[in-house]
Amino acid sequence: MIYTGVCAMTKIAILGYGTVGGGVARVLDVNPAQVAASAGEEVALGAILDLREFPGDPHEALVTHDYRTILEDPSITVIAETMGGVKPAYEFTKQALEAGKSVCTSNKELVAKHGPELLKIAAEHHVSYLFEASVGGGIPILRTLAGALKSEQIDEITGILNGTTNYILTKMEQDGAAFDDVLKKAQELGYAERDPSADIEGHDACRKIAILGSLMTGGYVAPDAVPTEGITAITAADLAGARACGMAVKLLGNCRMTGEGLEISVAPYLIAAEHPLASVNGVFNAVAVHGNMLGTSMYYGQGAGRDATASAVVADICEIVRNAGRTVPVSMTEKPAQLAPMGDATRRFFVRVGREHEAEVLEAFAESRTICTEQGEACILTGPVRESEFLEKLGGIAGVRNRIRVLDDED
Ligand code: HSE
Repeated sequence: MIYTGVCAMTKIAILGYGTVGGGVARVLDVNPAQVAASAGEEVALGAILDLREFPGDPHEALVTHDYRTILEDPSITVIAETMGGVKPAYEFTKQALEAGKSVCTSNKELVAKHGPELLKIAAEHHVSYLFEASVGGGIPILRTLAGALKSEQIDEITGILNGTTNYILTKMEQDGAAFDDVLKKAQELGYAERDPSADIEGHDACRKIAILGSLMTGGYVAPDAVPTEGITAITAADLAGARACGMAVKLLGNCRMTGEGLEISVAPYLIAAEHPLASVNGVFNAVAVHGNMLGTSMYYGQGAGRDATASAVVADICEIVRNAGRTVPVSMTEKPAQLAPMGDATRRFFVRVGREHEAEVLEAFAESRTICTEQGEACILTGPVRESEFLEKLGGIAGVRNRIRVLDDED
């Protein structure tokens, strides 16, 4: 449809006027013509639900504390749920869909936990449930998978999916900054989750890779089923050891189709300095997608922050308006995806161990070599080894300070 500037208008409501919700209002304020051109009609803010008042805010008159006024307002047809968390977002979303209103969201926790059910309810009511902003902030990765890459067999997705942890690792590496100081700064900048442990323990990245894994298989990967490690065990000594190996440390979400099913995980990895993901720094995210015909393509952008995330929410609003009266298809269903155990994967490992136990590590793993020694420690790279075997053998060696997986590109 070509936007002609004619009369039709969609009214939306924002649930949760925090960082992302405020950003959604801002995108509508700053880009009204572009939004109208994309949606095919004007998109106006009709209501804002929040517990707080916003005196002096240009939209303060739209603030309500009563969700029923939004649910019962037939002029509001699209809801942007930017509350975060499962409660009360789950109930609110269900009620909106059942009332025949489409919903779009940045809420990865809710999508990862209840996405299939909410999509089903949306389809039953001929409305849409979209969640572009839930993965990769402003990177339009879900739309790319559903559109441009739809004719590919996607066999692997690897991403830097959490801006806060990438920001922390980058600052620790580049400025030698302390973990706690950088986390505090990330919180001030509005990158971190309400509970920062969701970022640093890997849960946020876990929800995002679970969503990507679900979309990749067309089924459902429950976040609880994704082996997840965060970055709290990563130290300056690990970063120095990685540098000596010519590598960087990144928290990666990975899902890979194997003969046994989908192997999926979140963990810190050493990656070669020349790997495209190694140069993704600060709050930026990147998602590398491997398709059987395409090979690898990579998508890069701001992974957290008000405006970038809000831009993705507004892109969903526009898609919903363009498709009014029908359900935009999303390839996620309630069928559990078949998962392959992570322990079956074969890969190299980085091991940091006290010098007195260096020889044991070198002996235990074929093709191992010491990369550097410093302050009574040795940093060792093993040869390829099955993960379950590696962990079992390493468990029998004393003096191990840390071990980190190595991502070796097969392309
Ligand atoms: N806390 C998240 C991050 C926000 O740092 O990536 C965006 O999902």
